[in-house]
Amino acid sequence: MVQDERRGEGGRRAFRLDAAAQRGKAAAKAAWWTAAGGLAKFMTRPAEGKAAPRLTSESPPLSRARLRRAYFAAFEKDAADVAAGLYPPMEDAPADPAGSILKAWDFLADAREVDQRRRRGDGVEVRDDPKSQGYPAYYRQNFHYQSGGWFTAESARRYDAQVEALFSGAAGAMRRRALSLLARQWRGRDQRALSAVDVACGSGAFLRDLAQAFPRAALAGVDLSPAYLSEARTRSGRGMVQANAEHLPFADRSLDAVTCVYLFHELPPRVRPIVAAEIARVLKPGGVLAFADSVQPSDEPQLARMLEVFPAYFHEPFYGSYAQEDLEALFGAAGLRVIGRDKAFLTKALLLEK
Ligand SMILES: C[S@@+](CC[C@H](N)C(=O)[O-])C[C@H]1O[C@@H](n2cnc3c(N)ncnc32)[C@H](O)[C@@H]1O
Repeated sequence: MVQDERRGEGGRRAFRLDAAAQRGKAAAKAAWWTAAGGLAKFMTRPAEGKAAPRLTSESPPLSRARLRRAYFAAFEKDAADVAAGLYPPMEDAPADPAGSILKAWDFLADAREVDQRRRRGDGVEVRDDPKSQGYPAYYRQNFHYQSGGWFTAESARRYDAQVEALFSGAAGAMRRRALSLLARQWRGRDQRALSAVDVACGSGAFLRDLAQAFPRAALAGVDLSPAYLSEARTRSGRGMVQANAEHLPFADRSLDAVTCVYLFHELPPRVRPIVAAEIARVLKPGGVLAFADSVQPSDEPQLARMLEVFPAYFHEPFYGSYAQEDLEALFGAAGLRVIGRDKAFLTKALLLEK
């Protein structure tokens, strides 16, 4: 790893300074996106009126103390990994003020449309868009009730702001639990000989982090959405391949790692084993999958009630079945064995070896 080049007392001091920088940037980002998300909620009041879903639950009441602790711990874990030299400090602050204001403004301007879709319960509006023809039915949806689904450039540009506002600026820190597991696994290896593909790379936030952590490794992104791939190419500077994760266009046993973040909760139950088997097929023996997705209720019983409400507010048609999925068994059936685990706020990460 490039980080190893700075080892020794001087290097450790540099990592500590890096970690302090990461904490500062994370605090600014958290404040920014908490404010933007709060404003969007204030404008749309999704928890009030006829549109608010009425749910009954047998789970214990939500523990706000646990939620707060888990939220702050996510940033702490991220900074600790920077301090350990596992990866460099990442983007994360609203570094370009004008760009950040425009992004937040665009997100807020769109929030009303998203809310109207939520109130209509219309999660498949994109099926009227000719651009969505030819894609699998499960994919032709307005996940999160987002405008344009996965099919427009505007949606691809806006996606990161939506995710950051939803998680109060913690999305990067949560995704990086998968990076942390991979960086530990690859520590000390010559990254020029390593290859990884980020499956369902979306608009490229995680791929950009991968590229910063492993600048000399061969990295690429795969996604079904041309609009998101175009955004990801700009952000990460890496090559992109448009493909369905059910049929990855890579040879058997050709990759050292696959990363996959926030895909599996958006796949129908019958498709998850197909994608798991495809990932296993393209990995070399000894290769790893660094996986991250939503925590499941069994991981966080004190947050289970909130996880139950989530799919109703955010049009996540397959989330309920994902919440119950035995991931270890799912990947085990594909020939992948869990060798590492981590968790941050509302995301769990697994490292699985072929
Ligand atoms: C929730 S987003 C996650 C994006 C990104 N990994 C992140 O961390 O933000 C889900 C992504 O999965 C992609 N996707 C969904 N189903 C897919 C499939 N069958 N094959 C490839 N990509 C798919 C979507 O286009 C979208 O970009």
